[in-house]
Amino acid sequence: MRTIDWVDGAIEMIDQTLLPDEVRVLRVDDLDVLIDAISRLVVRGAPALGVAGALGVAMIARAHRDPSEVGPLAARLRAARPTAVNLAWGVDRALAALPHGAEAVLAEALAIRDEDIAACREMGNLGADLVRELVPDGPITVMTICNTGGLATVERGTALGVVQTLFERGDLREALAAETRPLLQGARLTTWELAQMGAPYRLFVDSAGPSMLTRGLADVVLIGADRIAANGDTANKIGSYSLALGARRAGVPFIVVAPESTVDVATASGDEIEIEDRGTDEVVSVRGVRLAAEGTRAINPAFDVTPHDLITAVVTNRRVVRVGRGETMHDLPHSAADDTVAAAAAGSSGWKEN
Ligand code: MRU
Repeated sequence: MRTIDWVDGAIEMIDQTLLPDEVRVLRVDDLDVLIDAISRLVVRGAPALGVAGALGVAMIARAHRDPSEVGPLAARLRAARPTAVNLAWGVDRALAALPHGAEAVLAEALAIRDEDIAACREMGNLGADLVRELVPDGPITVMTICNTGGLATVERGTALGVVQTLFERGDLREALAAETRPLLQGARLTTWELAQMGAPYRLFVDSAGPSMLTRGLADVVLIGADRIAANGDTANKIGSYSLALGARRAGVPFIVVAPESTVDVATASGDEIEIEDRGTDEVVSVRGVRLAAEGTRAINPAFDVTPHDLITAVVTNRRVVRVGRGETMHDLPHSAADDTVAAAAAGSSGWKEN
């Protein structure tokens, strides 16, 4: 089953807020419903957000005969979550097809969906090859955080896609999944995917990660990304930076796996990446049950930035970039930013964000 798709004139997505207890598909044919679904993490994960953004523009374009109405609505969709560059990228790429009509916008959105499926396969192979190179002997224990599997993409995943490829090749000893407070993407979603895969896995509390690494309990850390700056600094789920520090201390390779649509060469370094703060409620309570004293206020950064010097390599669907050795994302032949710049240069979208 695809995490998100275009089915009979509307967007269908697995409602990830209900997992692992219930697999329910939400059908979306309204912009406000889509923005709400993105905000509540019904659909989440950077690549899936890129597809949601593009399909959302297709949905808007089909509902509005006057193309001048589409841009402002797409701008609302683009702003639904700020850190994952894929959302803005998907919206912009679909919008660039608008002068050719609503069906061209849909075709572009479906191309983004299909490219995501192919990219995950490519990342799986490249990533598994790199892990095998860095950990040459024996079965491999992988530590990961958040959910970077099929639920975060259309089908197969980025970092968890590499875990799947390692498993299929017979190279996986065990996957260790961080539970990923506060919304528990690791506990709820990654365990669900690993169980479906039939792969061996265990769950751990986030704060155990660094010391587990220094105790030698994992051979490699694999994470996804929400935005990779030109110098390789990587925004990803909160807790990634702690794992990178622990991995450096332990001498364990720390690898980022993300499609090129997550590379943002227009952002020079991690200092420029906006970090979403999701407010008090989801920290002081878990699934509606209050944990903290009444009236407690929380700081809730959803992401952190791992500096490039702590990252052994970034694996995209096209190549391996050793950012820890000073290579930059400019060394890639092509990036999401190139698409956006090219579209803007061609003036093809006829729309600019204010
Ligand atoms: O808040 P989320 O669940 O959307 O955060 C997701 C992550 O941080 C993922 O690691 C990232 O988007 C990469 S998904 C392949």
